[in-house]
Amino acid sequence: MRKSLADVIHTRLAPLVAAYVANPREVFDLQTTPDPTKGDFALNTAMKLAKAARCKPLDLAGRLAEALAQETGWFTRVEAVPPGFVNLYLREDAIERGLRRFAEDPQLGLQREGRCETVVIDYSSVNIAKQMHVGHLRSTIIGDVLARVLAARGDRVIRQNHLGDWGLPMAMVLWKVRPLLRDLERRGADPATELTLARLEELYREVTKACDTQPEVAAACHEVLVALQQGDPGLLADWRTITRLSMREVYRIYTELGVLLTPEDEAGESFYRDQLADTVAALKESGHLVESRGAWCVFLEHFKAKDGSPLPVIVQKSDGGYNYETFDLAAIRYRIHRLRADRIIYVTDARQALHFAQVFDVAQAAGWTKRDGQTVRLEHVPFGSVLGEDNKPLKTRSGENVKLADLLAEAVERAYAVVQEKNPALPEETKRQVARMVGIGAVKYADLSQNRNNDYVFSFPRMLALQGNTAPYLQYAHARICSIFRKGNRPAEECAGPPRLGHPAERALGLKLLELPTAVAAVAADLRPHTLCNYLYDLATQFTTFYDQCPVLTADDPAVRESRLFLCRLTRQVLARGLDLLGIAAPPEM
Ligand code: ARG
Repeated sequence: MRKSLADVIHTRLAPLVAAYVANPREVFDLQTTPDPTKGDFALNTAMKLAKAARCKPLDLAGRLAEALAQETGWFTRVEAVPPGFVNLYLREDAIERGLRRFAEDPQLGLQREGRCETVVIDYSSVNIAKQMHVGHLRSTIIGDVLARVLAARGDRVIRQNHLGDWGLPMAMVLWKVRPLLRDLERRGADPATELTLARLEELYREVTKACDTQPEVAAACHEVLVALQQGDPGLLADWRTITRLSMREVYRIYTELGVLLTPEDEAGESFYRDQLADTVAALKESGHLVESRGAWCVFLEHFKAKDGSPLPVIVQKSDGGYNYETFDLAAIRYRIHRLRADRIIYVTDARQALHFAQVFDVAQAAGWTKRDGQTVRLEHVPFGSVLGEDNKPLKTRSGENVKLADLLAEAVERAYAVVQEKNPALPEETKRQVARMVGIGAVKYADLSQNRNNDYVFSFPRMLALQGNTAPYLQYAHARICSIFRKGNRPAEECAGPPRLGHPAERALGLKLLELPTAVAAVAADLRPHTLCNYLYDLATQFTTFYDQCPVLTADDPAVRESRLFLCRLTRQVLARGLDLLGIAAPPEM
């Protein structure tokens, strides 16, 4: 039988459910039940549908259960339970079939149902001439996982690094740095070697101070901004120098982190410079633009200031200049109509929630979010702050922003100590490689495993612990399975079972393995990577139980040994695939 459990449920229930919803696929959510006396899976379709169906969830669950009970090749028992779940008890051979099918699928069941979408993911989006801070770390890490997950499901993912490269901060740096650049030129020195990002940031801080106290400096910077935006060739050349210099260091961090972003993904604010006037004109045409004190604004009904007065979205300032909102509006049009996005995802910290809510609303009011009769989904993916051990935003001891590069270097150094303790016999070179995978993996995982809306406390000891929901724990589970195959002198891919799930720990592990697609689908829907982390942690824990209770290489019965090796092979594959979706390396030994 080639069908999967999801197929079976779909074919049985779709006719029943289609009467209530347009896409029945979407309401078949299977969750493994933590308590085996309540079945292997619970189906929450009736809970989701009861309202639309205008009946009691339990009555609807009863009807679904009746339909599923006819699938005797799959279930030993099907029951509707209050308040409206359907508990499913699977036959052992049904799980075994599922595992064989799973093992044969190179995608491990990840390919999504239905039409694949074009998804734009706007993430990292660093600012030029400023060092990346921990907020950009979160955007970079979370956005990268979303890009990997959606691509693995078959969506066409377009990454967009919306660099902050065309606003006043850029003009301020330029004003300050131009005399330095000229001086370097006179001396025949290369700015790429003479000017670091740290130095640029220092200069930026100096100008910020100067602007506060000296109006003539502020005015000069403003002039630079206007000239830059009008395309002054000399300024543009310097602008390019600063941008490349700045991004060179950003790419160093991207490489260290192992994220997917490349120069091809750069489409900063400057990218939209020739589309801004058109964007404002299109807004005017849509009838939503109002002049207010010389500035062009859109007033949206449900956005009010604290005092109840209407809150404008300014798209062109009284001096003719454009702002953060205008860039984003231009970007929305470009992404919908040129990139043909079906879905646009923005990963920034929660403080930008109002900005995106407003911009999305303006785009919708202007009619830009409809294309070919479809509504393009615009989604803001907000996240909380990274805190220090003192529960305040992460700072160095001297109170400065923590530099990402330093943070990552320390993680790798501390990971080296962990590897050294766990496996001192490893060759030095391997130890160093593994320490990088573990250190970087730990930083990423500590971030991803939290519900992103929450703040979290950054703690090296906690993220590097070999016990608990950490990257090293998962990486170690992976390495341990690899060592089973090394010890048994068996290439993993030769271990083809067949699976036999006689022991409760084998059965539980088998079921857990089959849940990977559900966990990944949940991340694609809710854009919350911690769901996948929790799944992998459960899987690793389930594997530990299995490995404690079921001897593998020393099993007496060769058929049992083969089955267990097959379970080990699948667990290794799922752990590695899951970690890869999280952008974390899985070392074969540690
Ligand atoms: N550069 C901005 C910042 O650092 C983030 C940009 C986010 N993306 C966007 N399309 N607005 O705050």
